[in-house]
Amino acid sequence: MTDSLPVLSFQSVEPQTWQLPTAEATHEFGVRLGRSLPPGSILLLNGDLGSGKTTLVQGIGAGLDIAEPIVSPTFTLINEYLNSRLPLYHFDLYRLEPTEVAALHLEIYWDGQETPLGIVAIEWPERLPYLPANYLNILLTDTADGGRLVRWAAV
Ligand SMILES: Nc1ncnc2c1ncn2[C@@H]1O[C@H](COP(=O)(O)OP(=O)(O)OP(=O)(O)O)[C@@H](O)[C@H]1O
Ligand SMILES: [Mg+2]
Repeated sequence: MTDSLPVLSFQSVEPQTWQLPTAEATHEFGVRLGRSLPPGSILLLNGDLGSGKTTLVQGIGAGLDIAEPIVSPTFTLINEYLNSRLPLYHFDLYRLEPTEVAALHLEIYWDGQETPLGIVAIEWPERLPYLPANYLNILLTDTADGGRLVRWAAV
């Protein structure tokens, strides 16, 4: 664990930003999230194609001590990792319309009644027809030098 990343605060309503110069930095940011987020956390991962959303979730998996490889759910829509400290539910909604997303009833993953509460990470949250009551909004953008900027805020 490097000391170059900030202490993460998920309580502040003020958006926070951090430079991620390399893919390794994106991964490390995810590790910090995975180590510190409580069960029931929902992450909305915004950012263009190739901005690093899946890389961030791979870091979260490492932070949760998930041994399996975290692979992009672009075609499967959801990947569930249940054999770790906390379950990780990883969605990629890119290929769906909001009406199709509504039919998935994603709320069962965050209301904790049918599935154990864990970390819910959603790529392409623009496709959600409704938002959870509380979530961590994360935006990854490209920087001129080929790295990324991450901006996050608790909502
Ligand atoms: N901070 C960074 N600086 C430079 N490259 C990065 C950074 N973070 C991730 N990458 C690289 O960007 C590429 C795309 O990453 P990734 O697949 O995670 O993006 P994504 O947002 O999930 O894409 P998609 O929208 O297709 O799902 C990968 O090659 C990854 O290594
Ligand atoms: Mg992805």
